[in-house]
Amino acid sequence: MTLKEFLSETSFQLSPSADLLCDQGISIMNNAIDPMHDGDHINSMFTKLYDYMNEKNLTTRDLNLEVMLLSICWHDTWKAMKQPRGILDFMLHQLVEGVFSARNFQKAAINTSLDNELISEVSYATRKHSYLQFTAIKTPEAQLLWDIDTLEMWNIERYIKAGEEFFMITRRRYQKFMEAYMKRQNKRFYTQWARSQFPIIKDDFFSRFSTEFSFV
Ligand SMILES: [Fe+2]
Ligand SMILES: [Fe+2]
Repeated sequence: MTLKEFLSETSFQLSPSADLLCDQGISIMNNAIDPMHDGDHINSMFTKLYDYMNEKNLTTRDLNLEVMLLSICWHDTWKAMKQPRGILDFMLHQLVEGVFSARNFQKAAINTSLDNELISEVSYATRKHSYLQFTAIKTPEAQLLWDIDTLEMWNIERYIKAGEEFFMITRRRYQKFMEAYMKRQNKRFYTQWARSQFPIIKDDFFSRFSTEFSFV
């Protein structure tokens, strides 16, 4: 689901500044060099946000959608432009990507009429989405971004695409690494909705993983 589809399904209207900034974020993501952090990844997140709102019967007034949508558009803008050179590089990116994406957003937002409160909420959610966190995430929007993004880690299509486009290491080691990494994946969710989604998505991931990556 694209942002346009999300907006038309929910009849939500972004302010002109937020609309422009979303478009800029989407354009960065659509030109990504990292096949796992690209336009498809954020479209999948719009779908998950839409599913979450539907399942919980939420209206557009029940959560701060401008924060959510801007955060989805910008949270991976730094990573989108990087290609890790190996596993260590990949791990380092996991640590710092939120801070750098938040900086990208702030630079883009500074010359718009977006209010400071909104800028700081989007920056916070973006910064806190990084995999390695030492303190709990406080705002509901940042928590939901974390949950949606974490569920997205189990989207097998992303790994199939990454596997097709580049292998950092040999195929055998790639599979071993992915299996180990995914099994240790952080299962800390903030919403009950994500907690209930997780076992279904995880089972599907591992059953498709062995079929899709049965090349060893
Ligand atoms: Fe990320
Ligand atoms: Fe992401």
